[in-house]
Amino acid sequence: MKDNKFIPDHVAVIMDGNGRWAQNTGRDRKEGHQEGMEAIRRVSIRASERGVKVLTLYAFSTENWKRPPQEVKFLMQLPVNFFDRFVPELQENNIKVNMIGFKDKVPGPTKRSIEKAISETKDNTGMVLNFAFNYGGRSEIVEATKSVVDKVLSGELNRKDITEDVLQGELLTHSIQPYDEVDLLIRSSGEQRLSNFLLWQNAYSEFYFSKLYWPDFTGDILDEALLDYQNRSRRYGAL
Ligand code: IPE
Ligand code: IPE
Ligand code: MG
Repeated sequence: MKDNKFIPDHVAVIMDGNGRWAQNTGRDRKEGHQEGMEAIRRVSIRASERGVKVLTLYAFSTENWKRPPQEVKFLMQLPVNFFDRFVPELQENNIKVNMIGFKDKVPGPTKRSIEKAISETKDNTGMVLNFAFNYGGRSEIVEATKSVVDKVLSGELNRKDITEDVLQGELLTHSIQPYDEVDLLIRSSGEQRLSNFLLWQNAYSEFYFSKLYWPDFTGDILDEALLDYQNRSRRYGAL
């Protein structure tokens, strides 16, 4: 690994393949989600050790409500289990919890558990562990647009002053500025698509796809992705 300056500030992960991991060995999909929590723990700690500033984990999409109610219920319970078990370890690693997503539809106990973890880790100064929970990229852009329109209608903002920065500042990821744009996007399980994840923020990110299912993902695989990133040439349209 090269020195810190080649470490991406913002790594975002589409944690995919929990269900297939379990089903391939004849188990219930829930066991895959359960095991996926261990991978979250391993990868968060390794990312923090490597000097990543923000690690965003896609944990539940606005489209995941389409799954059977039993699975949705289990997925809504996962943050409660995760934070109950792992907040002390996050503290030890100086990791600060954040969330992006539409909180209104999240059940009360889940919302409270997330808010508690955020508040307990709010003074930590290390990596931000940012959970995308009930997150959807298109809805995020629609809501940001509404905020901009409101500001124009109220006279706070002139139409001619609407810029990319203004719209970007209204996105849910304003909470992780200045690292809101993704540097390295990782997706596990062999699928190669965005699934409505950070559409604006991935405009110039580097993509890394792993065939491993998320519960099999390790800190060493994260290192492989970081090494791969270090050999990319990011040109942003220039030469
Ligand atoms: C990722 O694993 C976790 C969530 C989407 C919540 P999946 O549940 O999508 O697992 P597969 O893709 O069906 O294997
Ligand atoms: C993306 O995975 C969402 C999360 C990892 C939370 P999905 O499994 O929901 O995505 P698709 O359906 O394969 O596109
Ligand atoms: Mg999936």
